[in-house]
Amino acid sequence: MEKKSKTTFYITTPIYYVNDVPHIGHAYTTIIADAISRFKKLSGNDVFFLTGTDEHGQKVEKAAKEKGLKPIELADKMVVRFKDLWKALNISYDSFIRTTQSVHEQSVQKIFLELKDKGDIFKGTYKGWYCVSDENFLPEDVPLEGAGHKICPDCGKEAGIVSEECYFFKLSAYEKPLLDFYAKNPTFVRPPSRMNEVVSFVKQGLKDLSITRTSVEWGIPVPDDAGHTIYVWFDALHNYLTGIGYDWDISHFQKFWPANIHLIGKDILRFHAIFWPAFLMAAGFPLPQTVFGHGWWLKDKAKMSKSKGNVLDPHIILETFGEDPLRYFLLREIPIGLDGNFSHEGFIHRVNSDLANDLGNLVQRTLTMIHNYFGGKIEEMDKEDKADKKLREEFDNSRKKILEFYEDYALNRALEEIWFFINIVNKYLADNEPWKVAKDDSQKKKLGRILYQAAAALRVISYFLFPVMPESSKKIWDFLGEEKPIEDEPLSGLKFENLKLGQVIKKPKPLFPRVDLKEFLKEEDARQAPQKKEDKMDMITFDEFKKMDLRVGEILKAERVEGTDKLLKMEVDIGTEKRTMVAGVADVYSPEELEGKKFIVIVNLKPAVIRGIESQGMLLAAEVEGKATIPFFDKDILTGAKVR
Ligand code: ME8
Ligand code: MG
Repeated sequence: MEKKSKTTFYITTPIYYVNDVPHIGHAYTTIIADAISRFKKLSGNDVFFLTGTDEHGQKVEKAAKEKGLKPIELADKMVVRFKDLWKALNISYDSFIRTTQSVHEQSVQKIFLELKDKGDIFKGTYKGWYCVSDENFLPEDVPLEGAGHKICPDCGKEAGIVSEECYFFKLSAYEKPLLDFYAKNPTFVRPPSRMNEVVSFVKQGLKDLSITRTSVEWGIPVPDDAGHTIYVWFDALHNYLTGIGYDWDISHFQKFWPANIHLIGKDILRFHAIFWPAFLMAAGFPLPQTVFGHGWWLKDKAKMSKSKGNVLDPHIILETFGEDPLRYFLLREIPIGLDGNFSHEGFIHRVNSDLANDLGNLVQRTLTMIHNYFGGKIEEMDKEDKADKKLREEFDNSRKKILEFYEDYALNRALEEIWFFINIVNKYLADNEPWKVAKDDSQKKKLGRILYQAAAALRVISYFLFPVMPESSKKIWDFLGEEKPIEDEPLSGLKFENLKLGQVIKKPKPLFPRVDLKEFLKEEDARQAPQKKEDKMDMITFDEFKKMDLRVGEILKAERVEGTDKLLKMEVDIGTEKRTMVAGVADVYSPEELEGKKFIVIVNLKPAVIRGIESQGMLLAAEVEGKATIPFFDKDILTGAKVR
C-alpha cells in the first residue's frame, strides 16, 4: 500500500454502544478528539475525524428487548441522541459511522472471509464465560464464585456461561509479532504505563479468540454459515477502516490509513492494543501510530457508567453554561492519562475563576477601555518600551510550550500555559495602569500602546484557545474586529503583532457569567429527576399520565434572560392565575412573536430556579438538534383549558 502523505492526520473516537443515551464520559473522549483535530487543522494538516456508534451485539440486543424495541429502532433513536450531543458540544467530526451501514457490514464480511481463507480464522467450539456488559470473553483463570458463577473482573457484573460452536481467530500466532511490534514502537500505546500493562498481558500468553456467536442474532451474519453472527468487537474495530472508505472509497481510505491516533478509554485498551493490531497484521494492513488510553471520570469514586447508573447528564450543564465551559473543564482538570472526579464544585470553581475572572474580565476590561478612550479604534501609539518587549518575549516562550503540549496531546498542560500567559497580560495591565494613564491627555499614545498590547495578546490567546473553546474564541476574535475566520489564519503565520492598528473593535458582551454553586445545584436537582425517567423510556400508566396538569397557557409578556442566548422569561396566564416561566427557546423565537400566543403548559411541575428566576411550570415543545419548536393551536382556544 502507498504510504500516506505527511500532511494527513486521521483521528478516531471509540464507536459508542447504543444501549443507552450518552453521558459525560463519552463526551470526554469526543471532546479530546475534537480539540486535537481542530489543533491539527490549524497546523495545516489534512485532518479526518471519525466517530460513530457500535450497534450490534448482545448488549444492544438485550437493551432493546428490555425497552420493547427492535435493536435497529433503539439504535436509530440513540444515534439521534449522540448526534444531538455532539452538535451541542460543537464537535467537528468529519464522518459518523454506524456499524449497521451496509458498506461496513459488507467490508467486515469480506475481511472475515479473507482471514478464513488464509487460515487465521478456523472453526471450533467455545466453552467459557461471557460478560455482556463489556461484550468480553472472560480469561480462564477467573475463579468460580461460591454458587458456581463468575464475576467479570473488569466491571464486576455477573458473567454468563457460553458453550457453542464458533469460529476462532488465531490470536496465539500473533503473540511474538505483537511483542516485536511493541518493542519497535514503544509509543504505540500511550501513556507509557498502559504500554507496560499491555506488554505484560501479552507476555502471559495469548489464547485464540472466539469471534462468532450462534446465540446472538443481532450481528453481522458470518458469510456462508447460517446461524453464526460475527462477534461485536471483531465487527466494531473494523469501523476504523470502513469509516474512511474501506472497501468502498479506496483512494480516500489509502489517503488516511493508518490512523495517527485512536483515542479510547482505558476500559477498552486490550481490544485496541492487542486484538486490533493482530487483526490488522493478519489482514496485511499497516498498523496505527498511537492508541491513547485516557482515564475515567468518576462519580463518587466509581467509574461513571450507564450500566452503573451513576452518570451525569451533560445537557443540564450545557443549557446553563453553553459548551465551552464544559469542554474547558474536562480538558483542563486532568491530564489525559489519569482519572478525575467530576464535581460541580470543581466545575463551577473553574468557570468562575479561570473563565469569568482571568479570561472574561481581561477581555471585558481591555476592549471596554479601547471603546471608552479611543471610540473602538487605536490609530496611533508609542514605540514599545521594556515592559512591552517583555510581554512579547513571554508570548514567544508560551507559544513554544503551548505548541509542544498540543503536539504531544497534553491538552491540560497547553491550557495551563495559556492561562499562565493570560495572567501575565493581567499583570501587564495592573502594572501599566491604563485607567490612570487615560487621565492625562498628553499620554494618549502611551495609552494606545498599552491597550494595543493587551488587545494583540487577546488575539493570540483566542487563537490558542480555539481548539478547546471554539465558540468563545471566535467571539473574542470577532470583538477584535477580525474579519477572516479564525481557522483561516495558519498557525505558521501567527504573530503577536498581527492585530492591525486602526482596526475597529466591537463592544464586548460578557463571555462567561459567574454562577452561584448552590443555585446551580438546586436547579440541577429539580431537573434531573424527570430527565432520568425520560431517558429510560419507561412505560407509564394512564393514572401516572393523569397526574400531569396540562393546560392551555397564554403568554402575556416575554423577555430575554440577560447573559443567555437561549432563555426567555415569560409571564403566562394559565386561566386561574399568572405564572412566571423560563424556557430555552430564545434562539428560535423572539419575545415579540410569542406575546399573545397560546400553547401547552404543564402547570404542576415542581418549580425550578433557572438563572435566579423561579420557573413555575414548563411549556411543551418538540426538540430537534437542540432547537425547540412550539406546537401552537390552529383554532382560538380558551386560556386555561385542560389538555389531555
Ligand atoms: O466500549 N470516563 O462503547 P461504550 C471517561 N462500543 N470515559 C468514558 C467513561 C468514563 N466514566 N465512560 C465511557 C464501547 N467513556 C465499544 C467501543 S470501539 C471499536 C468500540 C468513554 O459505549 C471512553 O472513551 O461502552 C470509553 O472507552 C468509551 O466511552 C466506551 O463507550
Ligand atoms: Mg462500556
